[in-house]
Amino acid sequence: MQMSDETVIVTPCEDGPLLIRGPFELMTQEGERIPPGRATVALCRCGHSAAKPFCDGSHKTAGFRAPTGQESEPADGVG
Ligand code: FES
Repeated sequence: MQMSDETVIVTPCEDGPLLIRGPFELMTQEGERIPPGRATVALCRCGHSAAKPFCDGSHKTAGFRAPTGQESEPADGVG
């Protein structure tokens, strides 16, 4: 797979966060920018972080389990 400098890469880490790399913007539902603080960020997907939407490492103590790959087919519709 060939990716350009404009490609945003989202990597689900095994038992951990979603790593976001590339030219991304984080926004609230209201459209307010969330400063990422760095070029690559880890977004919580376990629900236990005290720093949401960012991962703070709490997934480890929470025993969160999720594969790095696809677990099942995506559901129709989002939200
Ligand atoms: S994924 Fe790391 S704290 Fe939730």
